[in-house]
Amino acid sequence: MILKQLSVKNFRNYSSANINLSSKINIFFGQNAQGKTNLLESIYFLSFTKSHRSFIDNTLIKNGERYLKITGILKNNNPFKTKLEIVLEKDKKSIYVDDDVYKKVGDYITKLNIIIFYPDDLDIIKGSPNIRRRYLNAEISQYDNNYLILLNKFRKIQKMRNDYLKKISINNNYDEQYFSIINDYYIDSSLKIFKIRNNFISEINEVIENIFYDLTGLNGFHVVYKNSLNIIDFNNKEIINIFKEKLANIFDSEMRVGSSLIGPHKDDIEFYLNDLNLKNYGSQGQQRLAVLTVKLAEIEILKKHNLETPILLLDDVFSELDDEKKNRLLKYISKDIQTIITTTDLKNIDKKIKKKSRLFEIESGNIKRVMEEEIYGE
Ligand SMILES: Nc1ncnc2c1ncn2[C@@H]1O[C@H](COP(=O)(O)OP(=O)(O)OP(=O)(O)O)[C@@H](O)[C@H]1O
Ligand SMILES: [Mg+2]
Repeated sequence: MILKQLSVKNFRNYSSANINLSSKINIFFGQNAQGKTNLLESIYFLSFTKSHRSFIDNTLIKNGERYLKITGILKNNNPFKTKLEIVLEKDKKSIYVDDDVYKKVGDYITKLNIIIFYPDDLDIIKGSPNIRRRYLNAEISQYDNNYLILLNKFRKIQKMRNDYLKKISINNNYDEQYFSIINDYYIDSSLKIFKIRNNFISEINEVIENIFYDLTGLNGFHVVYKNSLNIIDFNNKEIINIFKEKLANIFDSEMRVGSSLIGPHKDDIEFYLNDLNLKNYGSQGQQRLAVLTVKLAEIEILKKHNLETPILLLDDVFSELDDEKKNRLLKYISKDIQTIITTTDLKNIDKKIKKKSRLFEIESGNIKRVMEEEIYGE
């Protein structure tokens, strides 16, 4: 998948910008606060219809303006181009595919597949479990357009169950038959999500050891799915009964707190280098490379699922890696995948790679393509 063209209007500090991207490596450089991350954020927004760093859509609209618009021209494996467009007016978001209004967001977000790596991603390892669940949900939903629907269904039944648990604790009695029907739905809905997440982690584990080795020269990197049901074999025929039994065992505690204690909303994942848990024992650099590895693994997974390579967005990763790791990473990404890199300092990037890349300078929300000779005076 290639994003050939991107236009942004009134997005963050951009009034208007229009760029033609290379299908290989694109490097955006500029000083702090010029709009590098904003540009990547606009691509993220075009992909997911929301931002990766702001929960409030309206903050994306340029100060003083009434709307923003982002347009992308995509080239897929099919012979046609696709035009994606999102217009955001205060609290109203409209999505268009080839100029037609598009209503199904779950479907839409499979159209432009991106993988983004940005400095806060370290929280995937260091942060709280809900960050890792959000990460899982975002990644899986890119190739499985059923997943978000399942997740929404789960949240509804979870709310129903929690409401009923609260009611039981107040009234001190309950309709056993009704609660058992809720539980059946709850179990069914949870298991579907557990299984999809478990498959995703297995697929990641098939490829990450090699990628981590390519980036660091170290063996033994893997991810563990900490499922709140403590199940390892999801094909176990007894799984529904095991789930039921667990719910029966924790019924008193659930009633006391008035909420569900086992389910997809309690899942977590852990990152290991051999038997060292990187959250507690990894160096900052190791943690960063671990997250990068997991992100790069998604390229392989997305390829496997829909034969389209995603677009890789790397926000300011080079400044934090030593020279050897920088070069290993650059070598890895110069395979045939469209990549968009931001950096404050072009010196971070190997000269050979720069020669193969399209370079853009960003200054106060203005993007200017520059030729390599203009930088080196060659
Ligand atoms: N809604 C908005 N309207 C206008 N300007 C905005 C808006 N939101 C953010 N900005 C401006 O965008 C700039 C930050 O841009 P961005 O985060 O892309 O910087 P950057 O080039 O990535 O910098 P760094 O190298 O520090 O990461 C700031 O000057 C900020 O004030
Ligand atoms: Mg930035």
